[in-house]
Amino acid sequence: MADLVQLRRSGAPQPPETTQADPSAPAVYLETFGCQMNAADSALISGQLGRGGYRAVQDPAEADVILINTCAIREKAEDRVWGRTSQLLKHRADNPDLVIGITGCMAEHLKDKVAARAPYISLVAGPDSYRSIAELVDRARGGESVVDVKLDKEEVYDELDPHADDDGVSGFVTIQRGCDKFCTFCVVPYTRGRERGVAPREVLRHARVLAERGYKEVVLLGQTVNSYVYEDVDFAALLKTVAQIDGIERIRFTSPYPVDFSPRVIEVMATEPKVCPQVHLPLQSGSDVMLQSMRRGYSRQQFIDLVGALREAVPHLALSTDLMVGFCGETDEDHAQTLSAMREVRFDSAFMFKYSDRGITYASRKLVDDVPPEVKGARLRDVIELQEEHTHASHNAQVGKTVDALILGTSKRGDKTLACAPTYHKVLLPLGAGEPGDLVRATISGTTGHSLLAL
Ligand code: SAH
Ligand code: F3S
Repeated sequence: MADLVQLRRSGAPQPPETTQADPSAPAVYLETFGCQMNAADSALISGQLGRGGYRAVQDPAEADVILINTCAIREKAEDRVWGRTSQLLKHRADNPDLVIGITGCMAEHLKDKVAARAPYISLVAGPDSYRSIAELVDRARGGESVVDVKLDKEEVYDELDPHADDDGVSGFVTIQRGCDKFCTFCVVPYTRGRERGVAPREVLRHARVLAERGYKEVVLLGQTVNSYVYEDVDFAALLKTVAQIDGIERIRFTSPYPVDFSPRVIEVMATEPKVCPQVHLPLQSGSDVMLQSMRRGYSRQQFIDLVGALREAVPHLALSTDLMVGFCGETDEDHAQTLSAMREVRFDSAFMFKYSDRGITYASRKLVDDVPPEVKGARLRDVIELQEEHTHASHNAQVGKTVDALILGTSKRGDKTLACAPTYHKVLLPLGAGEPGDLVRATISGTTGHSLLAL
């Protein structure tokens, strides 16, 4: 799943508050790291805290409770969280009763080590503990050191009302939790537990609530979102049902697992106009030897054939991917295979990573992390350089095209209107081009490094 790109909230339609925040209520500052799934979980946490008598604040200096929703996917992600946590500790100086807690994947991954590493953390709550997060926070505020990291193979957070701090136009709907694939490098099955689907009625309820609040796009989330199944409803059927919701104009999903891309899902993508022509399809490596040792379940050729089938069915499909260099035993030849697969597929964009050992995976236990750091670094530079070429070419190919751009708000610098094309390319329009939630026709006139211009 792609790392989260935070969009600033602007004048977008706001979800109505369920209750008016009481200014005397204890204040929580919640910061999110990691993937879209974590952003969606933070919305769940906020919703539960709101109902439990807490109010949200945007400034940690005003907080009685600081929560960090963490990511454990790579060593670097964990390092960033530790850095940030110790930075936030300074607020204790003004408020000795300040509670600092961590939630999410690091809480699960490092449950036994948190006390030694960061004794000032008094709340540790895993991804299946959010239903009772307000009570856990109450206990931590009462002076207890609270650890709740039980994984629950049933918990899908039915009937809750997430409270998202997003743009109010594009909203996440979690349709699946956990992961059963056990790719040999990955910590997710250990931190998020077994795969389970959210009931279709619950997915629809959530998407309808978003539509009622003025959202125009839903992004269906799961670690292997297209392996979704609930009783006799599969992912293709779910997509079709979500597409019937009035008010929702666009549907995206992330991340699909290459092996689980059924012809039925491809057909829905081809025939259902609300489903955007965009897929994030993690390749990881172009070497069959690596793919096998990662236990990804597909070969390089099968992946390339799937890309062919998708592109044939969905014209103008935008394709992004995840690539990981320096996995255990990766040779120069394996690396060359990744570069050649990239040239063959020509992804529109990619998230690129150096492998890091997570301590508890199959690779940690049975394989040797033997690619030297400097070689990992050089290989990462190779893939980034090649991808930049492809990304620029992909942007340039959009120039002159007319797209339906969904307005999300104002650009970070505040001098443009920020919108999103069906392909997920960001589009910058003149200020005043429309209101958040409007769909406007835009002719692409140029590009910046990261966005399309329609000025
Ligand atoms: N469910 C997604 C992946 C989620 S993790 C899927 O479809 O496969 C997001 C990305 O992080 C992965 O695709 C992988 O490229 C990267 N990643 C996972 N574990 C990693 C590790 N130990 N070291 C480096 N990168 C890793
Ligand atoms: Fe991780 Fe593989 Fe699942 S990358 S999230 S174990 S599909």
